[in-house]
Amino acid sequence: MQFASQSVAKLYFTAAIALFIGQITFGLILGLQYVVGDFLFPEIPFNAARMVHSNLLIVWLLFGFMGSAYFVVPEESQRELYSPKLAVILFWVFLASGVLTIVGYLAVPYATLAKITGNAYFPTMGREFLEQPTITKIGIVVVALGFLFNIGMTVLSGRKTVVNIVLLTGLVGLALMLLFSFYNPDNLVKDKYYWWWVVHLWVEGVWELILGAILAFVLIKLTGVDREVIEKWLYVIIAMALVTGIIGTGHHYYWMGAPGYWRWWGSIFSALEPIPFFLMTLFAFNIIHKKKRDHPNKPAMLWAMGTAVMAFLGAGVWGFLHTLAPVNYYTHGTQITAAHGHMAFFGAYVMIVLTMISYAMPILRGRTANSDKAQVVEMWAFWIMTVAMVFITLFLTASGVLQTWLQRMAENPQPFMVVQDKIQFFYWLREAAGVAFMIGLVLYVVSFFVFRDEPIEPAV
Ligand code: HEM
Ligand code: HEM
Ligand SMILES: [Fe+2]
Repeated sequence: MQFASQSVAKLYFTAAIALFIGQITFGLILGLQYVVGDFLFPEIPFNAARMVHSNLLIVWLLFGFMGSAYFVVPEESQRELYSPKLAVILFWVFLASGVLTIVGYLAVPYATLAKITGNAYFPTMGREFLEQPTITKIGIVVVALGFLFNIGMTVLSGRKTVVNIVLLTGLVGLALMLLFSFYNPDNLVKDKYYWWWVVHLWVEGVWELILGAILAFVLIKLTGVDREVIEKWLYVIIAMALVTGIIGTGHHYYWMGAPGYWRWWGSIFSALEPIPFFLMTLFAFNIIHKKKRDHPNKPAMLWAMGTAVMAFLGAGVWGFLHTLAPVNYYTHGTQITAAHGHMAFFGAYVMIVLTMISYAMPILRGRTANSDKAQVVEMWAFWIMTVAMVFITLFLTASGVLQTWLQRMAENPQPFMVVQDKIQFFYWLREAAGVAFMIGLVLYVVSFFVFRDEPIEPAV
């Protein structure tokens, strides 16, 4: 570790992984409820499990981003964190409000939660991904402001690098877009319009800056390639991300009552959205090709390459699949959407956080890299999780194509639930792939604890 204050990242990464396990546990519950309809009913209804699954995902990714920033920013700024104490306090505030919210989802019916948290006075609840009680949302904003202050002061008073500035811009954007979750107009069209400013402009806008910056940082460290080369790539990637992604929001405005011209704007601009993801793939492989040293941390390199490939597949290819209005007309809200959502979130944001953890965690624990045997375990975990996610995506895509066909395109379109019964087979397969994913995740956790006293092969 170059700076002692980087060590706060360890807290954040540990919490991230713990919540990740929770997320996948609820994913498995959901997947089983898809095929055994009354599984855990009435204790854990599907809607509650779904909130827990998706909210845990977002929260642990945020822990991952914050931990990454606390690790990256001091090193890039060449100074200690402005206030390590504030970082620790905010960690506990965020963890407590996150856990309390999840307990709330599970302990009482959602309507009761809305009532006891005073949603009537300032209604923000009841929208997918933004289900959190208003007080939780306020808590998140407070944590975000404190975090940005801490990171901002460090960046502004230290060495300014492109990685730092892009990362900070992405994080500020993340907080700014979150503010739209407080605007909840009665008019459903307007509601959806701004809801997407949070959801879409996060994952296809400002989060891409965070993704690009973290990838650039890790590649600089692993390959020793000159910063100047890496920075040029980063500029082009984030410019393309914003140029395509902002107007690309229109791919969500097709059928919700917005003006019809959005079908053109949304189709054209979002069709270009794969470009920044493709550039990221080229970028990573190009830099690795130019590498000046062999870093002893092999899994970190594997995760970095994995991110570059899987983000392009999940967001770029599976996004493009259903983004043109004439296609989306049929596929909207089907399992095709879920297939894409899973692979995109995993490939881009889960994997970049795991890349960072893979690189940083050994350093935070006092070594450049883990022992060779521990690295082998981690690489097995990488492959099992990644291949399992590919299968989850393929099974959901298959079920989605059938669903779209039977329900919306065939000569005698059949009702939703009738079609659901016919595609059960794929839901079973998805659940099996989910179990494999969980095995990979358990192995990943195991890799932190095994072979701690074994030697590390010296770098070439
Ligand atoms: C890492 C980046 C991305 C992530 C994490 C992501 C994630 C998601 C998720 C979770 C949904 C479902 C939202 C809902 O609940 O309705 C969704 C929908 C959608 N995404 Fe993405 N996405 C990404 C990038 C892209 C890209 C690059 C494209 C286009 C090329 C795209 C096209 C779409 C479309 C068209 C929908 C709407 C599907 C429908 O009508 O049901 N996405 N995305
Ligand atoms: C890191 C891995 C995972 C990520 C990133 C992830 C992400 C997501 C996202 C973004 C959604 C909302 C989808 C949408 O609105 O279209 C979702 C829903 C869901 N996920 Fe996952 N998930 C993961 C793992 C799993 C696993 C292992 C399973 C189970 C086998 C699973 C089962 C489900 C189910 C059943 C839903 C509900 C879909 C629906 O409402 O119809 N997920 N997940
Ligand atoms: Fe989008």
